[in-house]
Amino acid sequence: MSKNRFRVGIIGTGGIAQAVHIPGWKAQPDVDIVAVADIDREALRKGAEMAGGAQTFTDYNDLLKLKLDAIDICVPNRVHTPAVLAALTAGFDVICEKPLAVSTAEVRQMGRLADKKRKILMTGQNSRFRSETLAIKAWADAGNLGEVYHARVRAMRRAWLPCRPGFIDHKQAGGGPCMDIGVHALDAALWVMGFPKPVRVSGTSKVNFAKGRKIPGMWGEWDRKMYSVEDFAAGYVTFENGATLTLEAAWLGHQNEVEDVSFQLFGIEGGVKWPSAETAGVTAGVFTDGKLTFPRRIESSHFEELALFRDAVENRKPSPVPWTETVSVIAILEAIYRSQAVGREIRLK
Ligand SMILES: NC(=O)c1ccc[n+]([C@@H]2O[C@H](COP(=O)([O-])OP(=O)(O)OC[C@H]3O[C@@H](n4cnc5c(N)ncnc54)[C@H](O)[C@@H]3O)[C@@H](O)[C@H]2O)c1
Repeated sequence: MSKNRFRVGIIGTGGIAQAVHIPGWKAQPDVDIVAVADIDREALRKGAEMAGGAQTFTDYNDLLKLKLDAIDICVPNRVHTPAVLAALTAGFDVICEKPLAVSTAEVRQMGRLADKKRKILMTGQNSRFRSETLAIKAWADAGNLGEVYHARVRAMRRAWLPCRPGFIDHKQAGGGPCMDIGVHALDAALWVMGFPKPVRVSGTSKVNFAKGRKIPGMWGEWDRKMYSVEDFAAGYVTFENGATLTLEAAWLGHQNEVEDVSFQLFGIEGGVKWPSAETAGVTAGVFTDGKLTFPRRIESSHFEELALFRDAVENRKPSPVPWTETVSVIAILEAIYRSQAVGREIRLK
Protein backbone atom coordinates (compact mmCIF):
# COMPACT_ATOMS: atom_id res chain seq x y z
CA MET A 1 0.00 0.00 0.00
CA SER A 2 1.42 3.39 -1.01
CA LYS A 3 1.83 5.76 1.89
CA ASN A 4 -0.06 8.45 -0.04
CA ARG A 5 -3.35 6.65 0.24
CA PHE A 6 -6.09 8.53 2.11
CA ARG A 7 -7.19 6.59 5.19
CA VAL A 8 -10.78 7.15 6.34
CA GLY A 9 -12.73 5.95 9.37
CA ILE A 10 -16.53 6.00 9.24
CA ILE A 11 -18.65 6.28 12.39
CA GLY A 12 -22.20 5.06 11.74
CA THR A 13 -22.77 2.61 8.88
CA GLY A 14 -26.57 2.77 8.54
CA GLY A 15 -28.70 4.16 5.73
CA ILE A 16 -26.76 7.16 4.44
CA ALA A 17 -23.33 5.58 4.94
CA GLN A 18 -24.35 2.55 2.89
CA ALA A 19 -26.23 4.58 0.27
CA VAL A 20 -23.65 7.26 -0.49
CA HIS A 21 -20.71 7.67 1.90
CA ILE A 22 -19.12 4.24 1.47
CA PRO A 23 -19.73 4.25 -2.33
CA GLY A 24 -18.55 7.89 -2.44
CA TRP A 25 -15.22 7.12 -0.76
CA LYS A 26 -14.77 4.02 -2.89
CA ALA A 27 -15.32 6.06 -6.05
CA GLN A 28 -12.25 8.17 -5.25
CA PRO A 29 -8.78 7.04 -6.23
CA ASP A 30 -6.29 6.06 -3.51
CA VAL A 31 -8.78 5.92 -0.63
CA ASP A 32 -8.96 3.17 1.98
CA ILE A 33 -11.92 2.94 4.34
CA VAL A 34 -9.71 1.50 7.04
CA ALA A 35 -12.28 1.17 9.83
CA VAL A 36 -15.98 1.47 10.56
CA ALA A 37 -17.88 1.79 13.85
CA ASP A 38 -21.52 1.14 14.65
CA ILE A 39 -23.42 -0.02 17.72
CA ASP A 40 -25.65 -2.19 15.51
CA ARG A 41 -23.82 -5.40 14.57
CA GLU A 42 -25.70 -5.96 11.31
CA ALA A 43 -25.09 -2.38 10.13
CA LEU A 44 -21.44 -2.81 11.14
CA ARG A 45 -21.08 -6.10 9.24
CA LYS A 46 -22.72 -4.67 6.12
CA GLY A 47 -20.68 -1.47 6.30
CA ALA A 48 -17.40 -3.35 6.69
CA GLU A 49 -18.27 -5.65 3.81
CA MET A 50 -19.21 -2.76 1.53
CA ALA A 51 -16.01 -0.96 2.52
CA GLY A 52 -13.98 -3.95 1.35
CA GLY A 53 -13.07 -5.54 4.66
CA ALA A 54 -12.61 -2.59 7.03
CA GLN A 55 -11.77 -3.13 10.71
CA THR A 56 -14.92 -3.02 12.84
CA PHE A 57 -15.63 -1.37 16.19
CA THR A 58 -18.77 -1.17 18.30
CA ASP A 59 -17.29 1.73 20.27
CA TYR A 60 -16.13 4.62 18.07
CA ASN A 61 -13.58 5.65 20.70
CA ASP A 62 -11.59 2.53 19.79
CA LEU A 63 -11.68 3.46 16.09
CA LEU A 64 -10.29 6.89 17.01
CA LYS A 65 -7.10 5.26 18.34
CA LEU A 66 -6.10 4.25 14.77
CA LYS A 67 -3.82 6.18 12.43
CA LEU A 68 -6.23 7.79 9.97
CA ASP A 69 -6.40 10.90 7.76
CA ALA A 70 -10.03 11.80 8.45
CA ILE A 71 -13.26 10.79 10.12
CA ASP A 72 -16.67 10.68 8.44
CA ILE A 73 -19.62 10.77 10.85
CA CYS A 74 -23.00 9.30 9.81
CA VAL A 75 -24.82 8.64 13.11
CA PRO A 76 -28.23 10.00 14.22
CA ASN A 77 -28.36 13.76 14.82
CA ARG A 78 -28.01 13.74 18.60
CA VAL A 79 -24.90 11.52 18.40
CA HIS A 80 -23.14 14.04 16.14
CA THR A 81 -21.86 16.26 18.95
CA PRO A 82 -20.18 13.59 21.13
CA ALA A 83 -18.74 11.83 18.08
CA VAL A 84 -17.42 15.05 16.49
CA LEU A 85 -15.92 16.24 19.80
CA ALA A 86 -14.24 12.86 20.33
CA ALA A 87 -12.84 12.82 16.78
CA LEU A 88 -11.53 16.40 17.02
CA THR A 89 -10.05 15.70 20.45
CA ALA A 90 -8.27 12.67 18.98
CA GLY A 91 -6.73 15.04 16.42
CA PHE A 92 -8.73 14.29 13.26
CA ASP A 93 -10.28 16.41 10.51
CA VAL A 94 -14.00 15.65 10.45
CA ILE A 95 -16.91 15.66 8.04
CA CYS A 96 -20.27 15.17 9.77
CA GLU A 97 -23.71 14.65 8.30
CA LYS A 98 -26.34 17.38 8.56
CA PRO A 99 -27.64 18.82 10.83
CA LEU A 100 -24.21 19.29 12.44
CA ALA A 101 -26.08 19.65 15.75
CA VAL A 102 -29.59 20.54 16.83
CA SER A 103 -28.49 23.50 18.98
CA THR A 104 -26.25 26.49 18.33
CA ALA A 105 -24.47 25.87 21.64
CA GLU A 106 -23.28 22.48 20.36
CA VAL A 107 -22.31 23.84 16.92
CA ARG A 108 -20.20 26.52 18.64
CA GLN A 109 -18.63 23.97 20.99
CA MET A 110 -17.55 21.80 18.07
CA GLY A 111 -16.47 24.75 15.95
CA ARG A 112 -14.35 26.32 18.65
CA LEU A 113 -12.62 23.02 19.35
CA ALA A 114 -11.92 22.54 15.63
CA ASP A 115 -10.46 26.05 15.41
CA LYS A 116 -8.37 25.56 18.54
CA LYS A 117 -6.95 22.30 17.24
CA ARG A 118 -6.60 23.70 13.68
CA LYS A 119 -8.72 20.89 12.31
CA ILE A 120 -11.20 20.98 9.45
CA LEU A 121 -14.83 20.55 10.45
CA MET A 122 -17.21 20.28 7.50
CA THR A 123 -20.99 20.02 7.72
CA GLY A 124 -22.37 17.54 5.19
CA GLN A 125 -24.64 20.00 3.38
CA ASN A 126 -24.38 18.15 0.10
CA SER A 127 -27.23 20.13 -1.52
CA ARG A 128 -24.77 22.99 -2.02
CA PHE A 129 -22.78 20.79 -4.39
CA ARG A 130 -25.55 19.98 -6.85
CA SER A 131 -24.92 21.36 -10.35
CA GLU A 132 -27.98 23.62 -10.06
CA THR A 133 -26.94 25.11 -6.73
CA LEU A 134 -23.42 25.83 -7.94
CA ALA A 135 -24.80 27.49 -11.10
CA ILE A 136 -27.19 29.65 -9.03
CA LYS A 137 -24.45 30.59 -6.57
CA ALA A 138 -22.06 31.68 -9.36
CA TRP A 139 -24.85 33.64 -11.09
CA ALA A 140 -25.83 35.36 -7.82
CA ASP A 141 -22.20 36.12 -6.88
CA ALA A 142 -21.78 37.83 -10.28
CA GLY A 143 -24.42 40.39 -9.20
CA ASN A 144 -27.42 39.09 -11.16
CA LEU A 145 -29.62 38.69 -8.08
CA GLY A 146 -28.71 41.89 -6.24
CA GLU A 147 -29.73 42.22 -2.62
CA VAL A 148 -32.30 39.57 -1.74
CA TYR A 149 -35.33 41.09 0.00
CA HIS A 150 -37.34 37.89 0.37
CA ALA A 151 -36.78 34.13 0.29
CA ARG A 152 -39.37 31.38 0.14
CA VAL A 153 -37.93 28.07 1.35
CA ARG A 154 -39.78 24.74 1.29
CA ALA A 155 -39.03 21.16 2.33
CA MET A 156 -42.47 19.60 2.05
CA ARG A 157 -43.24 15.91 1.59
CA ARG A 158 -46.57 14.19 1.15
CA ALA A 159 -45.76 10.84 2.80
CA TRP A 160 -42.01 10.26 2.95
CA LEU A 161 -41.51 9.87 6.67
CA PRO A 162 -38.22 8.19 7.65
CA CYS A 163 -39.35 5.42 10.01
CA ARG A 164 -36.08 4.70 11.86
CA PRO A 165 -35.76 5.64 15.55
CA GLY A 166 -32.87 7.99 14.73
CA PHE A 167 -35.38 10.22 12.94
CA ILE A 168 -38.61 9.93 14.95
CA ASP A 169 -37.37 9.64 18.55
CA HIS A 170 -36.70 13.18 19.82
CA LYS A 171 -33.92 11.92 22.10
CA GLN A 172 -31.98 10.71 19.04
CA ALA A 173 -33.15 13.10 16.32
CA GLY A 174 -33.60 16.40 18.17
CA GLY A 175 -36.15 17.49 15.56
CA GLY A 176 -38.33 16.26 12.71
CA PRO A 177 -38.57 17.48 9.09
CA CYS A 178 -37.42 20.96 10.07
CA MET A 179 -34.01 19.60 11.13
CA ASP A 180 -33.94 16.73 8.63
CA ILE A 181 -34.88 18.29 5.30
CA GLY A 182 -35.59 21.94 6.16
CA VAL A 183 -31.87 22.19 6.91
CA HIS A 184 -30.95 21.31 3.30
CA ALA A 185 -33.13 23.94 1.61
CA LEU A 186 -32.41 26.59 4.25
CA ASP A 187 -28.64 26.09 4.12
CA ALA A 188 -28.60 26.27 0.32
CA ALA A 189 -30.79 29.40 0.26
CA LEU A 190 -28.72 31.22 2.89
CA TRP A 191 -25.50 30.26 1.10
CA VAL A 192 -26.74 31.87 -2.14
CA MET A 193 -27.94 34.91 -0.16
CA GLY A 194 -24.47 35.31 1.38
CA PHE A 195 -25.59 34.47 4.92
CA PRO A 196 -27.35 37.65 6.08
CA LYS A 197 -27.62 37.81 9.87
CA PRO A 198 -30.96 36.51 11.22
CA VAL A 199 -32.31 38.72 14.03
CA ARG A 200 -35.94 37.66 14.61
CA VAL A 201 -37.75 34.34 14.16
CA SER A 202 -41.39 33.30 14.67
CA GLY A 203 -42.24 29.66 14.28
CA THR A 204 -44.68 26.83 14.60
CA SER A 205 -43.96 23.12 14.94
CA LYS A 206 -46.71 20.52 15.23
CA VAL A 207 -47.65 16.88 14.90
CA ASN A 208 -50.65 16.81 12.58
CA PHE A 209 -50.59 13.26 11.20
CA ALA A 210 -47.67 11.16 12.48
CA LYS A 211 -49.37 9.98 15.68
CA GLY A 212 -52.30 8.58 13.66
CA ARG A 213 -52.79 6.62 10.47
CA LYS A 214 -54.61 9.05 8.18
CA ILE A 215 -51.66 9.36 5.78
CA PRO A 216 -49.88 6.05 5.06
CA GLY A 217 -46.09 6.41 4.99
CA MET A 218 -44.51 5.59 1.63
CA TRP A 219 -41.46 4.20 3.44
CA GLY A 220 -43.52 1.86 5.65
CA GLU A 221 -44.69 1.83 9.25
CA TRP A 222 -43.22 3.68 12.21
CA ASP A 223 -43.64 3.45 15.97
CA ARG A 224 -46.46 5.89 16.83
CA LYS A 225 -45.63 5.71 20.54
CA MET A 226 -41.98 6.56 19.98
CA TYR A 227 -42.87 9.39 17.59
CA SER A 228 -41.87 12.55 19.44
CA VAL A 229 -40.76 15.09 16.81
CA GLU A 230 -42.86 17.49 14.71
CA ASP A 231 -44.24 16.41 11.34
CA PHE A 232 -44.78 20.02 10.22
CA ALA A 233 -42.97 23.26 10.96
CA ALA A 234 -43.10 26.78 9.59
CA GLY A 235 -41.04 29.86 10.31
CA TYR A 236 -40.83 33.53 9.47
CA VAL A 237 -37.35 35.05 9.69
CA THR A 238 -36.24 38.69 9.57
CA PHE A 239 -32.59 39.52 8.87
CA GLU A 240 -30.53 42.47 10.05
CA ASN A 241 -30.59 43.96 6.53
CA GLY A 242 -34.43 43.91 6.51
CA ALA A 243 -34.75 40.84 4.27
CA THR A 244 -37.34 38.21 5.16
CA LEU A 245 -37.62 34.45 4.70
CA THR A 246 -40.40 31.93 5.09
CA LEU A 247 -39.65 28.26 5.72
CA GLU A 248 -42.06 25.33 5.56
CA ALA A 249 -41.05 21.73 6.33
CA ALA A 250 -43.13 18.55 6.55
CA TRP A 251 -42.87 14.78 6.22
CA LEU A 252 -46.63 14.28 5.94
CA GLY A 253 -49.36 16.48 4.48
CA HIS A 254 -52.04 16.79 1.83
CA GLN A 255 -50.21 18.01 -1.23
CA ASN A 256 -49.99 16.73 -4.80
CA GLU A 257 -46.22 16.61 -4.97
CA VAL A 258 -44.42 13.63 -3.45
CA GLU A 259 -41.73 16.08 -2.40
CA ASP A 260 -41.05 19.78 -2.87
CA VAL A 261 -37.63 20.72 -1.55
CA SER A 262 -37.01 24.11 -3.10
CA PHE A 263 -36.41 27.79 -2.64
CA GLN A 264 -37.20 30.97 -4.52
CA LEU A 265 -35.16 34.13 -4.02
CA PHE A 266 -36.49 37.59 -4.83
CA GLY A 267 -33.64 40.07 -5.41
CA ILE A 268 -33.49 43.69 -6.52
CA GLU A 269 -31.70 42.76 -9.76
CA GLY A 270 -33.34 39.41 -10.47
CA GLY A 271 -35.03 36.30 -9.13
CA VAL A 272 -34.16 32.63 -9.11
CA LYS A 273 -35.72 29.28 -8.26
CA TRP A 274 -33.90 26.24 -6.87
CA PRO A 275 -33.45 23.53 -7.90
CA SER A 276 -34.96 24.34 -11.32
CA ALA A 277 -32.38 27.15 -11.79
CA GLU A 278 -34.99 29.28 -13.58
CA THR A 279 -34.22 32.97 -13.46
CA ALA A 280 -36.39 36.06 -13.84
CA GLY A 281 -35.24 39.58 -14.67
CA VAL A 282 -35.80 42.64 -16.77
CA THR A 283 -33.44 44.58 -19.05
CA ALA A 284 -34.50 47.78 -20.87
CA GLY A 285 -38.14 47.02 -20.11
CA VAL A 286 -37.92 43.48 -21.50
CA PHE A 287 -38.35 40.40 -19.33
CA THR A 288 -35.23 38.26 -19.48
CA ASP A 289 -36.24 34.91 -18.07
CA GLY A 290 -33.81 32.03 -18.44
CA LYS A 291 -32.44 28.80 -17.12
CA LEU A 292 -28.94 28.35 -15.74
CA THR A 293 -26.72 25.38 -16.44
CA PHE A 294 -23.47 24.48 -14.74
CA PRO A 295 -20.67 23.58 -17.14
CA ARG A 296 -19.69 20.46 -15.19
CA ARG A 297 -22.42 17.87 -14.62
CA ILE A 298 -22.18 16.63 -11.01
CA GLU A 299 -23.70 13.17 -10.80
CA SER A 300 -23.72 12.95 -6.99
CA SER A 301 -23.59 15.92 -4.64
CA HIS A 302 -22.62 13.48 -1.87
CA PHE A 303 -19.61 12.21 -3.82
CA GLU A 304 -18.68 15.82 -4.64
CA GLU A 305 -18.91 16.79 -0.95
CA LEU A 306 -16.54 13.98 0.06
CA ALA A 307 -14.07 14.90 -2.68
CA LEU A 308 -14.08 18.56 -1.57
CA PHE A 309 -13.56 17.53 2.05
CA ARG A 310 -10.61 15.35 1.09
CA ASP A 311 -9.11 18.19 -0.98
CA ALA A 312 -9.45 20.53 2.02
CA VAL A 313 -7.78 17.98 4.31
CA GLU A 314 -4.91 17.16 1.97
CA ASN A 315 -4.21 20.74 0.93
CA ARG A 316 -5.10 22.42 4.26
CA LYS A 317 -7.84 24.53 2.68
CA PRO A 318 -10.72 26.09 4.67
CA SER A 319 -13.72 23.87 5.38
CA PRO A 320 -16.01 23.79 2.30
CA VAL A 321 -18.98 24.14 4.71
CA PRO A 322 -17.65 25.96 7.79
CA TRP A 323 -19.32 25.77 11.19
CA THR A 324 -19.62 29.59 11.26
CA GLU A 325 -22.23 29.29 8.47
CA THR A 326 -23.91 26.26 10.02
CA VAL A 327 -24.44 28.19 13.25
CA SER A 328 -26.73 30.65 11.40
CA VAL A 329 -28.78 27.82 9.90
CA ILE A 330 -29.20 26.04 13.22
CA ALA A 331 -30.00 29.32 15.00
CA ILE A 332 -33.07 29.72 12.76
CA LEU A 333 -34.25 26.12 13.15
CA GLU A 334 -33.66 26.16 16.90
CA ALA A 335 -35.60 29.44 17.18
CA ILE A 336 -38.59 27.98 15.29
CA TYR A 337 -38.92 25.31 18.00
CA ARG A 338 -38.29 27.84 20.76
CA SER A 339 -40.93 30.19 19.34
CA GLN A 340 -43.46 27.33 19.37
CA ALA A 341 -42.51 26.49 22.97
CA VAL A 342 -42.82 30.02 24.34
CA GLY A 343 -45.56 31.30 22.01
CA ARG A 344 -43.81 34.41 20.75
CA GLU A 345 -41.18 35.77 18.39
CA ILE A 346 -37.54 34.99 19.30
CA ARG A 347 -34.86 37.67 19.08
CA LEU A 348 -31.44 36.26 18.16
CA LYS A 349 -28.31 37.72 19.66
N1 LIG B 1 -27.31 14.42 3.49
C1 LIG B 1 -28.35 13.64 3.28
O1 LIG B 1 -28.96 13.67 2.23
C2 LIG B 1 -28.79 12.70 4.37
C3 LIG B 1 -29.71 11.69 4.09
C4 LIG B 1 -30.06 10.81 5.10
C5 LIG B 1 -29.53 10.96 6.38
N2 LIG B 1 -28.66 11.99 6.63
C6 LIG B 1 -28.12 12.19 7.99
O2 LIG B 1 -27.21 11.13 8.28
C7 LIG B 1 -27.31 10.77 9.66
C8 LIG B 1 -27.60 9.29 9.76
O3 LIG B 1 -28.80 8.99 9.05
P1 LIG B 1 -29.09 7.52 8.48
O4 LIG B 1 -30.19 7.67 7.51
O5 LIG B 1 -27.86 6.86 8.04
O6 LIG B 1 -29.64 6.85 9.81
P2 LIG B 1 -29.63 5.30 10.17
O7 LIG B 1 -30.46 5.16 11.39
O8 LIG B 1 -29.96 4.48 8.97
O9 LIG B 1 -28.09 4.99 10.52
C9 LIG B 1 -27.45 5.55 11.62
C10 LIG B 1 -26.48 4.50 12.16
O10 LIG B 1 -25.79 5.06 13.27
C11 LIG B 1 -25.63 4.01 14.23
N3 LIG B 1 -25.37 4.58 15.55
C12 LIG B 1 -26.25 5.14 16.43
N4 LIG B 1 -25.61 5.54 17.54
C13 LIG B 1 -24.31 5.20 17.39
C14 LIG B 1 -23.14 5.35 18.19
N5 LIG B 1 -23.21 5.89 19.41
N6 LIG B 1 -21.97 4.88 17.70
C15 LIG B 1 -21.90 4.31 16.48
N7 LIG B 1 -22.97 4.15 15.66
C16 LIG B 1 -24.15 4.60 16.11
C17 LIG B 1 -26.92 3.22 14.15
O11 LIG B 1 -26.79 1.94 14.69
C18 LIG B 1 -27.17 3.22 12.64
O12 LIG B 1 -26.60 2.10 12.00
C19 LIG B 1 -28.41 11.66 10.26
O13 LIG B 1 -27.83 12.74 10.90
C20 LIG B 1 -29.19 12.15 9.05
O14 LIG B 1 -29.76 13.44 9.22
C21 LIG B 1 -28.27 12.83 5.65
